[in-house]
Amino acid sequence: MKLLIKSASQVMQACDQNQITVTGNEMKNVAILNADNEGLSIAVDNDGNIAGLGTDSAITKQFSEESFDHVIDATGCCVLPGLVDAHTHPVWAGDRVHEFAMKLAGATYMDVHKAGGGIHFTVEHTRKASQDELSRTFKERLKRMIKCGTTLVECKSGYGLDVESELKMLRVIEEARRDNSIKIDISTTFCGAHAVPRGKTSEEATDDVIKRQLPAVREEMEARRLTVDNIDVFCEKSVFDVEQTRRILQSGVDMGLMINFHGDELHPMRAAELGSELKAQAISHLEEISDDGIKAMAKSQSVAVILPTTAYILRLRAPPVRKMIDSGVPVALGSDFNPNAFCLSMPTVMHLACVNFKMSMEEALIATTINAAAALGKSQTHGSVEVGKRANLLLVKASRWEHLVYQFAGHDFTIAAVICGGEIA
Ligand code: NIG
Ligand code: FE
Repeated sequence: MKLLIKSASQVMQACDQNQITVTGNEMKNVAILNADNEGLSIAVDNDGNIAGLGTDSAITKQFSEESFDHVIDATGCCVLPGLVDAHTHPVWAGDRVHEFAMKLAGATYMDVHKAGGGIHFTVEHTRKASQDELSRTFKERLKRMIKCGTTLVECKSGYGLDVESELKMLRVIEEARRDNSIKIDISTTFCGAHAVPRGKTSEEATDDVIKRQLPAVREEMEARRLTVDNIDVFCEKSVFDVEQTRRILQSGVDMGLMINFHGDELHPMRAAELGSELKAQAISHLEEISDDGIKAMAKSQSVAVILPTTAYILRLRAPPVRKMIDSGVPVALGSDFNPNAFCLSMPTVMHLACVNFKMSMEEALIATTINAAAALGKSQTHGSVEVGKRANLLLVKASRWEHLVYQFAGHDFTIAAVICGGEIA
């Protein structure tokens, strides 16, 4: 056996016992198991999966303590599922600190974008950067994410916008996936339709993604040189319209990818309606979602990936999170880490979601564990502390897990250990 975590004071399961792919927003079966004031243990097998969960005495009866390679004494700690970040853009060169100043002075996201900044600025720098350079900064960012408690992260391409540079970004992600020293689990998203490249119309860009970029990605996938899980499009006014988005997403589905796209962020586009119709696994942003869109998502059970950092930095209208939750839309959270929103910390994201979007701390935990795993089609293996699931765990150094959220930006102190697949990451 690989690892025993013993004597924890709380274990938060955040699981849905029905084991359905997409969960609701209620924390079912929240495990605060130590009714008799006994410590709690979690046993991890050699494959890095959870083999047992219960009181210290029950677990040591089931598995003898000598059979474990490592033992962690979690006295005074709470154990949570490892956090899942459902939306990031982590591969890029060239920061945009100068644009932060412009935005503070009143420029909107689209002002900056149309002036040739924003995504275009990052594309220019990312195209010029070597694969090695991108790989080095990407891995540093992943390590920072792990320190903040993230154990599974969605990573997008989308700063290449042509065959060669998009493949370069996907290769950078693939290399980290295959690097055993990087413990975090990754879900890869192809986002060649992140913006309309300079000199092209959106129609030409749509054709390029469908006829050139996607076939090139498919070839690499078939040769097992690349793993890609999801397809993304920035469905937005002056970027890709609903019909172009539909065509690109459908082409991704035809090659086996899950739909996970940007919609209804700056303008109401009826992207939620489109995504629901196409049975999207997840739709992100949704600040401008319509009431019909909420109903459609509740019906399709597409996961709403809410991104509090973006709304905060761009001073956007808050997405109607309470209405979504009350209508039965599964809600997840993402950091949206990118050169516009430079935040890698999911505990900070949880705090923002609670204060600005009126989520409860429990809802924020579900949104960063089981529902975020569901947004990536991984809720059968990730997102909760359950026997048979991957041992991705977070040890919070406090008597109650809520300190993770309550101590704003305090994860350096509250996180005692991050465990990925039964190993300290
Ligand atoms: O999710 N909205 C589009 N994409 C990103 C921003 C990317 C960028 O500005 O570089 C987002 O916020
Ligand atoms: Fe994004």
